[in-house]
Amino acid sequence: MQIVSSLILVTAAAAGLLMTPVNACEPYKKHTIKAKGIEASFIEYGATITNLWVNDKDGVPRDIVLGWDDTKQYNLQAGLPGFLGAVVGRYANRIANGTFTIDGTEYHTPLNENNITTLHGGDMGFNRLNWTLVDKGKQDITFGLTSANGDEGFPGTVDVRVKYSVNDNQEWHIDYQGTTDKETIMMLSQHTYWNLDAFTTSDTVDDHVLWIPADKYVKTDGSLIPTGELVEVDGTALDFQKEKPIGRDLKEAKECGFDCVGYDNCFILSDPNKEEYQLKAYAPSTGIQLAIKTDQPAFQFYSCGGLDGTLPIKKTQGPEGSKKHAHRRRQDQKYVPQYGCFVLETEEYIDGINNPQWGKEHMGLLKPGEEYTQHAEYHFSIHH
Ligand SMILES: *[C@@H]1O[C@H](CO)[C@@H](O)[C@H](O)[C@H]1NC(C)=O
Ligand SMILES: *[C@@H]1O[C@H](CO)[C@@H](O)[C@H](O)[C@H]1NC(C)=O
Ligand SMILES: *[C@@H]1O[C@H](CO)[C@@H](O)[C@H](O)[C@H]1NC(C)=O
Repeated sequence: MQIVSSLILVTAAAAGLLMTPVNACEPYKKHTIKAKGIEASFIEYGATITNLWVNDKDGVPRDIVLGWDDTKQYNLQAGLPGFLGAVVGRYANRIANGTFTIDGTEYHTPLNENNITTLHGGDMGFNRLNWTLVDKGKQDITFGLTSANGDEGFPGTVDVRVKYSVNDNQEWHIDYQGTTDKETIMMLSQHTYWNLDAFTTSDTVDDHVLWIPADKYVKTDGSLIPTGELVEVDGTALDFQKEKPIGRDLKEAKECGFDCVGYDNCFILSDPNKEEYQLKAYAPSTGIQLAIKTDQPAFQFYSCGGLDGTLPIKKTQGPEGSKKHAHRRRQDQKYVPQYGCFVLETEEYIDGINNPQWGKEHMGLLKPGEEYTQHAEYHFSIHH
């Protein structure tokens, strides 16, 4: 079915009919969890978040994550854009030349980005797999996945779980867990595309204000592979140590790939501390503020330079967007433009497996008998 759908898609794309629904599979059922002032929906495909509602400064619920209204499209149009709202793994971000060595054995993973790097676990990363619904309560939901030894070139059969929960303090918590039966590498993350304005006043996130207490970033080459250096952000466009609008220095930020303008960088937290907020972002328009606590030492911040106006803005978003209108036919369909969102991935130093000089703890190695864990929490409030 996967192959047939792709063929239909290619043909449809060629005919310029990309947005025509392709009736190839059933829509995924959304599973919803809620607490006071927060409600989130998920599907098994990619353990993906499809909607996240929090109140704006006027008390109006706003859906602040990008996605598809029609859940079939997550699978059928998996590349538009990739990783939409999904869990990425088994090794998030890039692996240089799709090559790494564990205990003297060299492994090769698919070169699914520009034929030169592995991105987010390969062609069929965890974002493209159907996870199993393991457990569901009113405020929490758990998805599980088994990935066999050799899947996408990685050694070891791994079992992973991701538990999402919400609480009355307007928080969304994510707990990741993983085990293996043979030494492997593991780095999981969540690839939500955020727009805290919910497209109510602006299509881009230029005026969103961002604070990242990171004094260094991972220097990368044109293919976004680390050169090995950790460089000070001082005096560069990558300095978010004092909050500033994302758009302020965006045109000067060019370390995001070949011919790219914007951000796609791994920020090294100055003082990693899971008890303190390690990032804040807010939209002045809605007042919605996102603050993140994590036990990870780094963040990848991506300013959606690759968005190109092909992903429709959901019916639940925009000035009229609301739960009531989710099924309404929209006359003036709008699309997410370049810089219409941002992604924040809590994670380890990128490609740590190929940069042992940073320390063994950043390599992402996982042995049988050990457990990979990660905790991240996203707290929503109104910025005053
Ligand atoms: C890249 O990987 C290929 C095998 O897939 C290997 O032959 C080649 O030597 C590697 N290149 C570098 C620069 O590591
Ligand atoms: C990757 O390389 C193959 C074989 O050389 C080529 O057919 C394909 O078009 C390339 N893909 C990309 C995305 O560059
Ligand atoms: C996931 O489920 C959908 C819908 O049942 C199906 O079309 C697709 O082939 C499945 N994907 C994989 C990788 O098994």
